[in-house]
Amino acid sequence: MKVLVTGGAGFIGSTVARRLLDHGHEVVVLDNLRRKGVVRNLDRIPEAKFVLGDIRREADLNRCGKVDAIVHCAANPGVPFSLSNPSEDFSINAGGTLKVLEFARKLDCSVIYCSTNKVYPADLINSIPLKEKATRYEWSEIKGFQQTSMVGGRPHSPYGVSKLVGDLYCQEYFSVYGLPTVVNRMSCIYGTHQYGVEEQGWVAHFVFSALKNQTIRIFGDGKQVRDMLWGEDLAELFELELEKINKFKGSVWNVGGGYENSMSLLECIDFLEKALNKKISVNFLPWRVADHKVYISDIGDLKKYWKPKTNPKEGINRLIKWAKEVLK
Ligand SMILES: NC(=O)c1ccc[n+]([C@@H]2O[C@H](COP(=O)([O-])OP(=O)(O)OC[C@H]3O[C@@H](n4cnc5c(N)ncnc54)[C@H](O)[C@@H]3O)[C@@H](O)[C@H]2O)c1
Repeated sequence: MKVLVTGGAGFIGSTVARRLLDHGHEVVVLDNLRRKGVVRNLDRIPEAKFVLGDIRREADLNRCGKVDAIVHCAANPGVPFSLSNPSEDFSINAGGTLKVLEFARKLDCSVIYCSTNKVYPADLINSIPLKEKATRYEWSEIKGFQQTSMVGGRPHSPYGVSKLVGDLYCQEYFSVYGLPTVVNRMSCIYGTHQYGVEEQGWVAHFVFSALKNQTIRIFGDGKQVRDMLWGEDLAELFELELEKINKFKGSVWNVGGGYENSMSLLECIDFLEKALNKKISVNFLPWRVADHKVYISDIGDLKKYWKPKTNPKEGINRLIKWAKEVLK
């Protein structure tokens, strides 16, 4: 298969591209390198054809040539940028996705879309009954969030809205034009080759900050919980969706590590302190807009086809090893 990976220099894009190349597929990467540090990820996918360009420009998409499928990862992936630059965020995430879908319609190819749990409004997610424990919040009645239709309500953050527009367009292109699209609403994806910063990619950001002895700022009390999915496990799912597109087309999934791979921010700091054998300096600040106190994906249905292999402790240890190499 010849696959275009938009945002293919990024963390998820380059991880997916690497897997596809390893399994004999041809890969084209389109990226404008707006994310600091990602240019280094091109070294891990030297066999891919790299097109420096913007998903919003038809001419740049055309330069990628004819492909059989698109894995659409390019985006502004963070909430804080969307709060200060809502127009640019919308232009990239919503407008850019529409351009990618039009390109796919012209080629009649499938599209795997990177959506997010932020399409679910905070008032909905935070209304799920909670218990407060010493190091984390826990949902008291459910283990994971399963609904995929409950996207109304507020607040989402501009990022949540722009990604939701892209998400709905992907579904619409399947319904109206029969374009084979798959929507993956992902929670926390982490791994090596993730140049995490405070605004996005918190696990890698915590690891880099701890190694550099920098204070970590936590928004809220640190008991917020996320289910964590190792990037390479996600790449395995995307490859499956591409290969079995007739089974997966038109579907919407909540994708994450599930309950057994969940961690709170405080638990992550505690794990890092033990792994690095040092005290980490932490500063607590007010909660961020539209933050979820707990978000854990229900991956029960998906487990019929795929399941996460890497647990957070194993993953964070690998991340530490990689980050030490980067900082050398
Ligand atoms: N990492 C996560 O935890 C997570 C969770 C949920 C959803 N997502 C989604 O997954 C996707 C990938 O995220 P990531 O963590 O790999 O982020 P990333 O920033 O590492 O990758 C995004 C890539 O897109 C590129 N890009 C941005 N705007 C572009 C444009 N207009 N044209 C071409 N390239 C452009 C960037 O340079 C970057 O290389 C995003 O759509 C994000 O919203 C990520």
